[in-house]
Amino acid sequence: MSRSGLFLKETLRRPGEVVALAPSSRAVARKMTAGLERVSGPIIEIGPGTGSFTREILARGVPPSRLTLMEINDQFCASLKTQFPGVRVVNRPAQDIHALGLHSVGAVISGVPVLARPKIQRDVVGRALDVMAKGGIFVQITYSLRAPISTAMQAELGICADYRGMVLANLPPAHVYVFRRIQH
Ligand SMILES: C[S@@+](CC[C@H](N)C(=O)[O-])C[C@H]1O[C@@H](n2cnc3c(N)ncnc32)[C@H](O)[C@@H]1O
Repeated sequence: MSRSGLFLKETLRRPGEVVALAPSSRAVARKMTAGLERVSGPIIEIGPGTGSFTREILARGVPPSRLTLMEINDQFCASLKTQFPGVRVVNRPAQDIHALGLHSVGAVISGVPVLARPKIQRDVVGRALDVMAKGGIFVQITYSLRAPISTAMQAELGICADYRGMVLANLPPAHVYVFRRIQH
């Protein structure tokens, strides 16, 4: 089955988890992964789906051994393992990020739907911050015009947001935000 076919099948089977009709476009993947070639330490991608962002992370020269994928969907995990030999694929929710045993993580690239889900924001973003390097970045895709994490939740988590931009060449058009821990 093609990657788009698998994606649509899993959207219909688990709409509350996949929350999109098609994999992200290459243009979105480029914006999500910009600068990763200069990031040091482990990189974790959460919610990779069929691997749109994974492909670009590797294309930027990140060695497969530095990359870990956390994906809740077992069908997607099977496809990711076949497509990306040498990349660690973990069939667990991003909420379990501590269990990976990684620290000083340079970047977390997130396709996990967090918009208007405060519990998921605390459990996914909050726990990711615990394993990230001081200057690490949490990059999030959203289909909303607004930041996917409210300013109140940003304050609670001790992070600030940078808007990286919009990508029209995607269904639907997408926005990319970068969150960082506020340095005191
Ligand atoms: C909108 S899709 C994005 C897929 C891919 N990143 C892309 O842009 O084409 C959301 C993905 O997050 C996964 N997901 C949802 N909740 C998750 C969680 N708590 N932990 C890990 N993956 C999750 C879904 O199974 C799905 O693969």
